[in-house]
Amino acid sequence: MTRHSRWAGRAVPELEKAALCPVVTARRDLRRGVRDVPVPDAALARILATAHLAPGAGRSRPWDFLLVQDRGTRVAMHALSMRQREAFAASLHSARVKGFGDIEVEAILDAPLDVVVTSGPARGGRHMRGRRTEVQTAAFSTACAVENLWLAARAQSPGVGSVSFFDERERARTLALPSQEEIR
Ligand SMILES: Cc1cc2nc3c(=O)[nH]c(=O)nc-3n(C[C@H](O)[C@H](O)[C@H](O)COP(=O)(O)O)c2cc1C
Repeated sequence: MTRHSRWAGRAVPELEKAALCPVVTARRDLRRGVRDVPVPDAALARILATAHLAPGAGRSRPWDFLLVQDRGTRVAMHALSMRQREAFAASLHSARVKGFGDIEVEAILDAPLDVVVTSGPARGGRHMRGRRTEVQTAAFSTACAVENLWLAARAQSPGVGSVSFFDERERARTLALPSQEEIR
């Protein structure tokens, strides 16, 4: 049997086919409506399982999802993102700052759950298929997993808001992460 041939022969049921496009359309980057709505464990398990189904170069699965529940860590992450947000605002021309001030860039303390996504470019060792000449395939694979998570979260819960206002090294230190090269 060739790789995944049992899946190739299995049609997607009509109802599920019909659900895909509305979920993709409704995904959106959400933060206001997600407040105070806890994610039930069963929904979270389904969301993470769906994220892990993402394609990955050489089946490397270079991602990890860290569920950040500790309040102190969330407060520290929030402070880091606010600092980067202010630095970004300070770098803008005044007309742009005006619009930026109204944009909600994060909901780290308001969301019921914070998830940190890591991507390990060395995951699986040096001989990983599909990554030998293109190391960025690790990041591409992780992006696929994030999209899976985003879609599943929209289907199973109010949704996801993405935050990337961090200095990488500050974030790694606050979360006590190993250096990128060491993440397995
Ligand atoms: C990798 C990545 C990082 C992002 N970081 C932020 C962010 O720091 N703050 C924010 O408000 N939105 C962030 N977003 C959300 C984008 O602004 C949003 O996806 C884009 O405006 C399109 O809107 P939509 O997702 O609702 O279609 C991020 C999205 C991606 C894919």
